[in-house]
Amino acid sequence: MHSMSDASPARRPRALSGAQPTADSYHLGNYIGAFRQWVALQEEFEAFYFIPDLHAITVEYDPELLRERTYVAAAQLLASGVDPSRSALFVQSHVPEHAQLAWVLGGVTGFGEASRMTQFKDKSAKSGHDAASVGLFTYPVLMAADILIYQADKVPVGEDQRQHVELTRNLAQRFNHRFGPTFTVPEAHIVKQVAKIYDLQDPTSKMSGSSVSHAGVIDLTDTAKQAAKKIRSAVTDSGSDIRFDRAEKPGIANLLTIFSAVTGRDVDDLVAEFEGQQYGHLKVALGEVVGDFVQSFGDRTRELLDDRAELDRILAAGATRAREVAAPTLASVYERSGFVVPRADA
Ligand code: TYM
Repeated sequence: MHSMSDASPARRPRALSGAQPTADSYHLGNYIGAFRQWVALQEEFEAFYFIPDLHAITVEYDPELLRERTYVAAAQLLASGVDPSRSALFVQSHVPEHAQLAWVLGGVTGFGEASRMTQFKDKSAKSGHDAASVGLFTYPVLMAADILIYQADKVPVGEDQRQHVELTRNLAQRFNHRFGPTFTVPEAHIVKQVAKIYDLQDPTSKMSGSSVSHAGVIDLTDTAKQAAKKIRSAVTDSGSDIRFDRAEKPGIANLLTIFSAVTGRDVDDLVAEFEGQQYGHLKVALGEVVGDFVQSFGDRTRELLDDRAELDRILAAGATRAREVAAPTLASVYERSGFVVPRADA
């Protein structure tokens, strides 16, 4: 005979991810490397997708811009196919449990292991190490809290977030070991072929919203014309044959990756189609494909942005759903941490 608890329905596995609202728009790398996976996972997973505004304040920023960018981010995630009737879509600061858990996790994070985070090293190198904020340093601890507060199983991200998810796993295991089983140990979900989309002007560095020049960055707010032009001006490699070779032909490999991701066609299939043609042919064809894509993506985004009240409703419902899961996790963490439970009737 099964006991009652054995018979209780198993919960669906959970997926969780976030994307920072630190630029005027997300870019094609975010969409291909991350958002498409978010959307695909909503079928099978109970999903939590959010806009990490608390993370966005760890570098210099403008408060009014942040507010506007948060709405744009919400609209672009919806335009990407995040479905609020299936997944919780919310703003990080609306769920205070993230910051509360981050503080507790800070107590089990080593200064040394936090110092080894390469993204911190890269970002703090930009401003000069001493000018970097303490928030930027503890950023990965908050990210661990984002993930662990939902007992997430899978975290769909691009390659650049792998180390942060690894830290999250270590913190979960350490906490579980010291205080008893509390957290699900999550796994990164990184789709190798698209995990790193490169800058069109510099196909050895990743496409990034914080790049000074956006000549090599397709923003999801670009017009069809702008996007097509950026693709046509992409830096390509020496030689002239079109084949997929990351080491020898990083520029062409990047264009083929983007082509494949946006159309759903196999890279092999594309290589066969363009065999014997020149780089220019590939660029013109891809320019049209990406142009059409950003055009319809932009149309959908603008429609969504026109109804702020509806966006507010979606984000509020998402935060309510998120807190239903986050609050019990925080309660059990506080209990295991040895905090006295506040008694309303005391
Ligand atoms: P962020 O905001 O920099 O990027 C959002 C997502 O897009 C992916 N990405 C890329 N993928 C492929 N090619 C690229 N050129 C490219 N650029 C960005 C990122 O890997 C990411 O998946 N720390 C996170 C945000 C975050 C988070 C979390 C993520 C906060 N809390 C909890 C997951 C779980 C970040 O800065 O991503």
